[in-house]
Amino acid sequence: MTDITTTAKELLEAGRARLAAAADLDRFVEAEREILGKKSALAALNSRLRDLTPEGRRVAGEAIKAARDALAEEAARLRSDLTERHRRDRLAAERMDLTELSSAPPGPVLDWSGRGTGHLHLVTSTRDELEDTFVAMGFTVAEGPEAETDRYNFEALNMPPDHPARGMWDTLYLHLGDPGQVLLRTHTSPVQVRLMESGQLPIYAVMPGRCYRRDTPDARHLPVFHQIEGLVVDRAITFGDLAGVIEAFTTAFFGPGMHSRLRPSFFPFTEPSAEFEVTCPICAGAGCRTCSNSGWIELGGCGMVDPNVFEAVGIDPEEYSGFAFGFGIDRLAQVRSSLSDMRALLDNDVRFLSQF
Ligand code: PHE
Repeated sequence: MTDITTTAKELLEAGRARLAAAADLDRFVEAEREILGKKSALAALNSRLRDLTPEGRRVAGEAIKAARDALAEEAARLRSDLTERHRRDRLAAERMDLTELSSAPPGPVLDWSGRGTGHLHLVTSTRDELEDTFVAMGFTVAEGPEAETDRYNFEALNMPPDHPARGMWDTLYLHLGDPGQVLLRTHTSPVQVRLMESGQLPIYAVMPGRCYRRDTPDARHLPVFHQIEGLVVDRAITFGDLAGVIEAFTTAFFGPGMHSRLRPSFFPFTEPSAEFEVTCPICAGAGCRTCSNSGWIELGGCGMVDPNVFEAVGIDPEEYSGFAFGFGIDRLAQVRSSLSDMRALLDNDVRFLSQF
């Protein structure tokens, strides 16, 4: 009988070692069957019990059961460890390694499938950069629809029907609603009107977006282009604030040593109005072909919000004042990257786009 008890203990130790040695799930299942299965040495021990006295049978039976229970417990623990390890190995093997692609240099790097990696379009990344610059200056970003009504694009901006200033924007009209009432916005200024109408003051916002004009495409014009507009409405806002914001923006966006200046101009929705120019980013003000040797590049328009505009949107011009500015994002990208022809932005030729 001690004999059976000893054997059971030996089998327990051997079984433990055998289970622990199984390197993977398949070998583990095999080992488990050998040790605990019907044909195992442990099961064979049971058949020897019948030759023993009842007392000896009880003692030996308990020893066999103890060995079996211990092995079963050990097997369950190992099985769950191995299953987990197996699952992790499978996930690691199936994981797609994108590191090589994402660390690739910009440009049309082709992988074995012939697919390029791609990146944002120059105009999109310029817009993102502009937004980031203004957000860092405390502005929020607002958007509005590209199809607008006459009221938002013109009338509320101090241009009643037939006002000659409407001729500053060659407008594309849509066959929608009353004739001549729905159009593709010619600038982002209608978003100003929408923001002011919403009645939440003060306003410190920039409004980027796509605009449309009935222009024939040439080196410096696109019929579909992008503008970014800025609007500030608060108490006691002055022209000095406008000039200060434009100067702060110029330095933040173009870098130290870059400045801005204002020249008198006209827009129906601002009074007084100005054009703003920035140090030519190509020659840093020294004078070059791009800036016609002046050292300055005209970027956009700006001015103090006309009281008539405030009245059209229900803001009291006696209590509030504000300024607005706007400029072309594509134009800015053209100047900054020295593009001779803006139409290249629409050709979608990767050899061109991948340079930026
Ligand atoms: N919306 C004007 C344009 O398209 C630019 C502008 C914006 C001028 C805001 C003044 C103030 O030409």
